[in-house]
Amino acid sequence: MKKVLGLVVSERNLGNSEILVKEIMDAVPDPCARELIRLTDLKIEPCRACYRCLSPGSRCVKKDDFNFVLDKILESDGLIIGLPVYFLGPHGSYKMLTDRFLGAGHYSRHTRGKPCAVVMPFGMPGWEGYTRTAALVLPRMLEMRLVDCWQVHAALPGESMLKDENREYARRLGSGLFTARESGRGPRECPHCGSDLFRLLPGGEIECPLCAARGNLRDGGVPDFSRPGHTRFSAEKLEEHFNVWLVEMRDKYLRERDILKEVQKPYRGKQWWVKGRGGANGGTVS
Ligand SMILES: Cc1cc2nc3c(=O)[nH]c(=O)nc-3n(C[C@H](O)[C@H](O)[C@H](O)COP(=O)(O)O)c2cc1C
Repeated sequence: MKKVLGLVVSERNLGNSEILVKEIMDAVPDPCARELIRLTDLKIEPCRACYRCLSPGSRCVKKDDFNFVLDKILESDGLIIGLPVYFLGPHGSYKMLTDRFLGAGHYSRHTRGKPCAVVMPFGMPGWEGYTRTAALVLPRMLEMRLVDCWQVHAALPGESMLKDENREYARRLGSGLFTARESGRGPRECPHCGSDLFRLLPGGEIECPLCAARGNLRDGGVPDFSRPGHTRFSAEKLEEHFNVWLVEMRDKYLRERDILKEVQKPYRGKQWWVKGRGGANGGTVS
């Protein structure tokens, strides 16, 4: 039996992310086991950059909920992410989670080719910001088959389901989750990764900041990425980054640790830190 995991990245009870994910999951054909995780209920701490997870078979050493979420993602056959736009980008909990995937080079053999759909509610047209591009990082690092990256205009909790077309779209997405191909790219999206943000380079060249593919702007401002070349999300490039370059960096650190400690020494005594009080008796803003 297929297993589908819904990852809801919103604290809002029955908010748009939650109900959109539920509608999509509900339409996945049976037999299907469904599980939901509300990411904001879990403790996901910052990555401590210890690089331990780079060793094959090693797990993150932090005692929080990351390994639980990771296991759920790895064991599922399909992933549906509900990710609201917050301040022109993805909800911060999603970035916190993404940052913990330094071991992606060992995880992707479990996730490669599995379907992933991302649904992103946003409150105001024109305020979607860079959310789409940021949302793509996790499924791309895990080499998943991105079947959709759907932005839904809905500000108030539940508003997304006021429109029949959204419900129908969600149900189509769910019913085709395991049979759908990688989503097609629009003419103004990177054909390699699907990002819609580009960096302008000298000489009329453009670069996709997400996957690093390079192309040119054609007449009418349409990006042309037809030249074959580098994209960092190919299986070889990901292998090179996570399982070679990062491992070399870790080994270099171990070799050069004493030199680096000398560089750090003069800063050790400058303990100017101020600490918060964990919300108790916090100040007021007037
Ligand atoms: C703190 C905060 C920041 C937000 N920032 C944006 C934004 O920059 N752009 C936007 O279009 N909507 C923004 N919204 C609106 C949410 O994306 C919208 O209400 C969405 O439906 C929330 O999804 P949820 O119901 O699953 O939490 C923001 C909402 C909150 C609470």
